[in-house]
Amino acid sequence: MTTPLGHALTLPCGLVLPNRIAKAALSEFMADSDGVPSEHMISLYRRWGEGGAGLVITGNVMVDPRYIEAPGNVALNGKLSKLARSRLLAIAEAGKSSGSAVFMQLSHAGALALKQTCERPVAPSLLRRGTRGIGAFSSAPCRAVTTDEIKSIVAQFAAAAEMAADAGFDGVQIQCGHGHLISQFLSPRLNRRTDDWGGSLHNRARLMLEIIAEVRARLPGTFAISIKLNASDFIEDGFSFDDCLSAVEWLNGVDIDLIEISGGSRVQPQMFGLMQPDCYEADGRLLSGYHETGAYFGGFSKAVKAVARMPVLVTGGVRRRKDAERIILRDVADLVGFGRSMCLDNKLPEKLLSGDVDVIDEFMPEGLESGGHLGPDSSFGFIRDIHFEALMAWHSVQMARLSNGSKMDASVGLLSALRAFRRSLKATRQR
Ligand SMILES: Cc1cc2nc3c(=O)[nH]c(=O)nc-3n(C[C@H](O)[C@H](O)[C@H](O)COP(=O)(O)O)c2cc1C
Repeated sequence: MTTPLGHALTLPCGLVLPNRIAKAALSEFMADSDGVPSEHMISLYRRWGEGGAGLVITGNVMVDPRYIEAPGNVALNGKLSKLARSRLLAIAEAGKSSGSAVFMQLSHAGALALKQTCERPVAPSLLRRGTRGIGAFSSAPCRAVTTDEIKSIVAQFAAAAEMAADAGFDGVQIQCGHGHLISQFLSPRLNRRTDDWGGSLHNRARLMLEIIAEVRARLPGTFAISIKLNASDFIEDGFSFDDCLSAVEWLNGVDIDLIEISGGSRVQPQMFGLMQPDCYEADGRLLSGYHETGAYFGGFSKAVKAVARMPVLVTGGVRRRKDAERIILRDVADLVGFGRSMCLDNKLPEKLLSGDVDVIDEFMPEGLESGGHLGPDSSFGFIRDIHFEALMAWHSVQMARLSNGSKMDASVGLLSALRAFRRSLKATRQR
């Protein structure tokens, strides 16, 4: 079958992606307490490698083990142990076994750093109350990061990218969205600095731009550098879509290969489309992010693609083959990302490419689809937090099944997934 999804895409660095389907970053929660990936993670990437995606992006790999987002995150610590290096080599090799390109997503959790492992996380500026979050994803009040630390963070990202290249990854994706540290710097709400790293949007974007420049300086031009960027934080005084478009103008002037458009954060989980479909900017303007293709950020990515010099990937909400094809045909994006559905069927890309799948079965665990005060878009923050954790838990149970060679199990209940998730995260912390 001929489908626009089957067309190869050459990135500016020369890397050829065999098709237009990307497996989006999904935190695997499969590393030990030292951040070393488990053997299960290698099997998981073997399964995803067999699935036929043009691009496979790993879950967030933390560049500093002190500031991880959740127990079970892979974390790099300056220098890799022999075991960690051999596991990363095996993951890259497994993911690439059937021709996919594999990127490592690099992140620093900043204010999102897990309370249980980080007593005093860092943020662009002092945060007395911490970013909200309960259960496995709770975080503590933060201190402002110093300028010396900012320079070390830039170096940590660059060192991590070198480790990714050394382990055989084709590129990295720098996490600049979803409320992680770089996204906190971009946000006028969280970044109240008065030095060169805060204030104007250009200053707030400095950390992102310096990290990209340092990674590029240390790695050959054939190594792919991509970023994941929020279309908007969808929060009052947060990073807005206008900010996003300005940031893209600056990104046009640096050497990057791909921008993935997503949105929201743990506090406002718009990346899962759990909120009301109409999103407003702080000034009351209605954002037309929702797209006829179902892609939550399709409207935004189309506008980004119109100005971006590099290819654009859009992820979130795509559930039909025709919609994925329309995204390519109508210049909404150059690549289509799939997250949750890749936890449920590793062969999804192959099936979309062959035309075996028209509509992706959407298995929303019972409880996640309800609205109202107890629903995922509840006006109560702690209820939204529980839904967020439950959604991650349920999909992580399915990823664990995938890694064991089992099929997804739609009958797994939300509460039992949540309990299993918390048990396994606790065990990781104590190991
Ligand atoms: C279990 C789970 C883990 C995730 N981990 C990450 C992550 O590590 N980094 C990231 O950028 N996005 C992460 N995401 C978000 C996805 O990459 C994607 O943006 C989101 O699931 C929307 O796409 P979808 O509608 O196809 O699921 C995660 C999502 C899930 C369900």
